[in-house]
Amino acid sequence: MDCDEKNEECLALYRNSLKSADMDHDGTHFDGQYPHVFVILGASGDLARKKIYPTLWWLYRDNLLPTNTIFIGYARSKTTVETIREKCQEYMKVKPNEQERYEAFWRINHYVAGAYDQGADFEVLNKEMCKHEIGPVANRLFYLALPPSVFEPVTVNIKEKCMATKGWTRVIIEKPFGRDSASSDKLSNHLAGLFTEQQMYRIDHYLGKEMVQNLMTLRFGNRIFFPIWNRDNIASIQISFKEPFGTQGRGGYFDEFGIIRDIMQNHLLQILTLVAMERPVDLHPDSIRNEKVRVLKCIEPLEPKDVVLGQYVGKPGGVGDEALGYLDDPTVPKGSVTPTYALSALRIKNERWDGVPFILKCGKALNERKAEVRIQFKEVPGDIFDGKAKRNELVIKVQPGEALYVKMMVKTPGSPFDMEETELDLTYGSRYANIKLPDAYERLILDVFCGSQMHFVRSDELSEAWRIFTPLLHHIEGNGMKPIPYLYGSRGPKEADELLYNNNFTYSGSYKWKPNL
Ligand code: NDP
Ligand code: BG6
Repeated sequence: MDCDEKNEECLALYRNSLKSADMDHDGTHFDGQYPHVFVILGASGDLARKKIYPTLWWLYRDNLLPTNTIFIGYARSKTTVETIREKCQEYMKVKPNEQERYEAFWRINHYVAGAYDQGADFEVLNKEMCKHEIGPVANRLFYLALPPSVFEPVTVNIKEKCMATKGWTRVIIEKPFGRDSASSDKLSNHLAGLFTEQQMYRIDHYLGKEMVQNLMTLRFGNRIFFPIWNRDNIASIQISFKEPFGTQGRGGYFDEFGIIRDIMQNHLLQILTLVAMERPVDLHPDSIRNEKVRVLKCIEPLEPKDVVLGQYVGKPGGVGDEALGYLDDPTVPKGSVTPTYALSALRIKNERWDGVPFILKCGKALNERKAEVRIQFKEVPGDIFDGKAKRNELVIKVQPGEALYVKMMVKTPGSPFDMEETELDLTYGSRYANIKLPDAYERLILDVFCGSQMHFVRSDELSEAWRIFTPLLHHIEGNGMKPIPYLYGSRGPKEADELLYNNNFTYSGSYKWKPNL
C-alpha cells in the first residue's frame, strides 16, 4: 500500500469516526447533504491567508466537508477572489496532481466587500449567502478572523442581518477573548446577548493538536496510569512551550498582550486542565468541560512570588535575527517591559493535587521549538541503589514530532551491577509511519461543521482562566514586575530554573537519548 492509499484509508477512518463520535456524544451530526455557507470575516487578513483558507482547501481536497459547501470571504478591501487566491498561494501546499481539485475549490469561493459596522453591507452578504442556499435546509458558519476591536459590531450585524433562517448558525471566534476578567466578561456578556453557548465556538488551536486530544485517552483509557496520577506519586508537572524565534516584526501586536496572554493563559492552561481534571462522567462535551471548570476552580490566583518573567535581548556577535532583542523590533514601543518569557508555578487545592506544583513555562526566542508535558515522579522510597536511581518522567511531546516516552532505570545491559537511564518510547513517526495527522485547525473547523464543542472553550472556563491570571497581569502592568533579560537562543533566565528547582523539579542532565534512526 503506498502513502496515498494509506492516507485515503486513514481519511475514511477519520470521516467515520467523526460521524460516530458526534452521533454518540453530542447528539448532533454531520449534515452532509445540505448546503453550508462558510463565511470568512477578515478574508484579506493574515490569519485568513495563512491558516483559514489553507485549512478549508485541505478539508475540501480530502472530501471531508459536506458536498454542498461554499465559501464567502468578507472584508473592507475592494478585492477579488483572484487576489485572495494569489495571497494564499504560498500557504496552500498544492501538489501537481491536485490542480484540478484546486481549481474547483476556488470556483466555490466568493467575495463580498463591506464595512464591519454597516448593517447595509451585511444585508448584501446575506443576499449573497441566500443565492447559494437552494433547498429546504441550509446552515451557516461564520469565522471571525478579525481584530477584537471589531468583534462587537460584527457579531451584532451577524445577529441582525445574517442568521440562517432554514438551518443552524455557528460562530467561530479566535483569541484574544479580552485582556483580563473585566474585558473578557464584557465580551462574553455581549456574545451571550446575541448567541446561545451552542452557537459559539471559541478556538484554542492547541485543543486541536493530536497529543493534546490524546490526553483523555491516555489518562482514562489506561489502567496503568490511573493509580499513579496523584500527589502520592507525582513530584511536579511541567507544561512547556518554546519557540526559537522572536516577534519577527509582529512586536507591535505582541506588545499589547505579552507571553502570558499569548500562550500561558490559554494554550498551557488548557493543557493543564486536561492533565489535572477528574474523570468526566461520559464523553459528552459538556461533561468534559464541567470537569475542566471544576479543576480550574481549585486554582488560586497566581502571585508574583510564583512567577519569573523575561524579555529577550540580542546575542552579542549573533547573526541576523539572533543579534536583535525584543526592544530592537521597530514595532515595539521604546522601553517596553512586556514579557516574552514566563514561568509560573500554580497550585491545585484538591484531594488529588494538593502540594504538587504545576509549572507553566513559555517563551519566544529560546533555544528550540517544543511543546510538551513532563510529569516527574517522586523518588523510589526505601532506596537500595545508593541514590543512583533517577526520578521517572512521563513526557508527552506535543511538537515537534509527536511522542510519548517514560524515562526509567534499567540494569546497564551486560554489566552485573550498574544501572542507567533509558526510555519506553512511543514515537508516532515510527509507530504510525505514513499516517497523516490532520492539522489542528482542520480538526477544529471540522468539529464546527459536526457541532462538536468538545475541543472548544466554554465561557465559564474562560472566566476561570482569567480569574487566575488577572491580578498578576494587573500587577505587572502597574510596573510591579520587570522582566529579566535573557539572550536570544538561550533557555531563558536562570532565575526561572531556580523557581523550577524550588518547585520540586529536579534535573540531572545525565539522560541521553539514542534515537533509532
Ligand atoms: P533531558 O533530561 O535531557 O532534559 C529534560 C529537559 O530539562 C530538557 O528538555 C530541558 O528543557 C530541561 N533542562 C535542560 N537543562 C536544564 C537545567 N539546567 N535545569 C532544568 N531543566 C533543564 O531529557 P529529555 O526528556 O528532554 O530528552 C532529551 C532529548 O531526547 C529531547 O530532545 C527529547 O525530545 C529527546 N527524546 C525524544 C524522544 C522521542 O521523540 N520519542 C524520546 C526520548 C527522548 P527546557 O529547556 O525546556 O527546560
Ligand atoms: C499562537 C500565538 O496562539 O500560537 C503565537 O499567538 C504562537 O504567538 C502560536 O506563535 C504557536 O502555535 P503553534 O501551533 O505553531 O505552536
